[in-house]
Amino acid sequence: MQLAHTPSFDGIDLDSRYQAARRIARAAAEQGMAFYRQRNELVVEHKGGNRQDVVSLADKTLENFIRAELAAAFPQDGFLGEESGSADLDARCVWVIDPIDGTACFVNGLHSWCVSVGLMIDGEPALGAIADPNHDELFHGCRGRGAYVNDTPLAISAATHVRDGVMGVGTFHEPGKRHFIPFLERLLGAGGMFVRNGSGALMTAYVAAGRLIAYHETHLKSWDCLAGVVLVLEAGGRLNDFFRDDGLLKGNPYLVAAPGVYDQIAEMIGPWLDAPAMNG
Ligand code: IPD
Ligand code: CA
Ligand code: CA
Repeated sequence: MQLAHTPSFDGIDLDSRYQAARRIARAAAEQGMAFYRQRNELVVEHKGGNRQDVVSLADKTLENFIRAELAAAFPQDGFLGEESGSADLDARCVWVIDPIDGTACFVNGLHSWCVSVGLMIDGEPALGAIADPNHDELFHGCRGRGAYVNDTPLAISAATHVRDGVMGVGTFHEPGKRHFIPFLERLLGAGGMFVRNGSGALMTAYVAAGRLIAYHETHLKSWDCLAGVVLVLEAGGRLNDFFRDDGLLKGNPYLVAAPGVYDQIAEMIGPWLDAPAMNG
């Protein structure tokens, strides 16, 4: 997916939604910080299965707050959140949010977590706000209006080879064993290098900011990345056909990258990048 055009979103009040996304992401991140300072008191639940997928009261409280704020301001809009499910997905505007992206980091005292609030309009990523309270950074952007960290414009990396910078990566266990290890071998073989910070939303924002040259996850959910995808597209980056099939609800393999390295990395991932949707 390379959304070169700028959609017009006729008849939608984009200004008030963009403002609300920033305000709500920031306010939720502040509440998240209060929980984070007292994280030793949180009960951490495992979502089940043979994987490290955790959730706490902080995730649920923040999602309820975000959902209530959005419903009060835009009652006609749809909603999709990681913790509380979906409503009105047929609406023109659908909010796609992750109350805490990087929960495993959050509960273990690692500073890479954030609040991610994205909006889809007519099936296109339209605007996003990602609040990282540990570093006082609000990444935000809107189609046709650019992307920013706080007030500073974002620009994608000028890298033309994987050797020119560091890329973000991530995986869960099953696709990890089958697809991720072979990918890493190819990346390292070509002189590339990787980091995994545990937050797909932040790594996506870092690609938009040119801090990472790319980010690949073997299977990501839309709430992990929708807000960040807007920033990447506005900063001049490329995205794979992530929303194909039932990608909004089920997720898909994921790649965002600087244009100069996109094809090289897509080739290293191979056919898996375009594989049919699965539950990851
Ligand atoms: C996770 C993070 C992580 C990625 C996982 C996601 P969560 O989200 O984005 O970086 O590797 O695929 O599920 O569970 O912390 O919201
Ligand atoms: Ca997430
Ligand atoms: Ca989450």
